[in-house]
Amino acid sequence: MKSHKIALIPGDGIGVAVTEAAWEVLGRAGRGAGFALEGTTFPWSCDFYEKTGAMMPADGIETLRGFDAILLGAVGWPARVPDAVSLHGLLLPIRKAFVQYANIRPHRLLPGVEGPLRVRQFDILCIRENTEGEYAGAGGRVHGGTADEVAVETSIFTRKGVERILRFGFEQARRRRGKLASVTKSNAQKYSMVFWDEITARLATEYPDVAVSNYHIDAMAARMVIAPESLDVVVASNLFGDILTDLGAAIQGGLGYAASANINPERSAPSMFEPVHGSAPDIAHLGTANPIAAIWSGAMMLEHLGETAAAAAVLAAIEVATSRGIGTEPGKHSTKDITAAVLSALG
Ligand code: IPM
Ligand code: MN
Repeated sequence: MKSHKIALIPGDGIGVAVTEAAWEVLGRAGRGAGFALEGTTFPWSCDFYEKTGAMMPADGIETLRGFDAILLGAVGWPARVPDAVSLHGLLLPIRKAFVQYANIRPHRLLPGVEGPLRVRQFDILCIRENTEGEYAGAGGRVHGGTADEVAVETSIFTRKGVERILRFGFEQARRRRGKLASVTKSNAQKYSMVFWDEITARLATEYPDVAVSNYHIDAMAARMVIAPESLDVVVASNLFGDILTDLGAAIQGGLGYAASANINPERSAPSMFEPVHGSAPDIAHLGTANPIAAIWSGAMMLEHLGETAAAAAVLAAIEVATSRGIGTEPGKHSTKDITAAVLSALG
């Protein structure tokens, strides 16, 4: 039987429960479609940090490189380990080392989920640059602790980086409804964002079948609330995409439905799939974490692995569960009940 080697990093807090739920559903989908998922679990987390002084071993990245994909729960427990340490010790190095430059986040309402908007029909695919831009990590501090202290953090936009994320966006738009919205702030940031706009305009000539619009980030934030149905593919820089995808999660009913994929489109290294929500330490002990975002992320993983029928079956099973009212409100159903409903819909 065909099999895929998956690295599981449940991580912290609710990451553990939702990864377990997703894994169970994916395994069932695989058996139904005639392939096996061979999982190896890595306990890398804030627990691991407290025991070893690092979020993952020094050869962690090399260990992960041998897998076909990574399924991650959540990273962080700020009361125990500062976020700047835990995220820069695990999640962010994986995204960068494996050149997972396309962070894909679908935003639409699942059947049965209310959401805060009057508009109920929208289907947005946010594509966030995931390796450079405002989160490149270039900067420093001088004159520490004095009145003259200075902190500098520089955005880095490279031709290669901007071009490849936009090209990825154009390709996705071509496969969907043929519309691409490019998000910048080129009225205020006259170097990096003008550069981005120029590359968008040049690539647009290669994709005459894609209708391109340019938005400033502030206007896009408003549009996602007022007219989300007007949007198809939205491409944005690391910071802008980060903010817009929390907004996207909000309009789709909450972070419990927000799936995401960190993709290396060239497949030179494994891609990583994770729900957008964090570890939610405050509810970690309650057993009520919504596993839907993790399961949906798992469906995106199957899709990436070429298992399109199984991916569609998982998504359909999620929709059957939510259309029956299961997992449609925070805390109403337990993680286990929601998982059971998805499993039973999967058959
Ligand atoms: C996300 C998260 C991370 C990010 C944090 C935890 C560093 O907010 O995946 O959106 O900004 O990339
Ligand atoms: Mn975020």
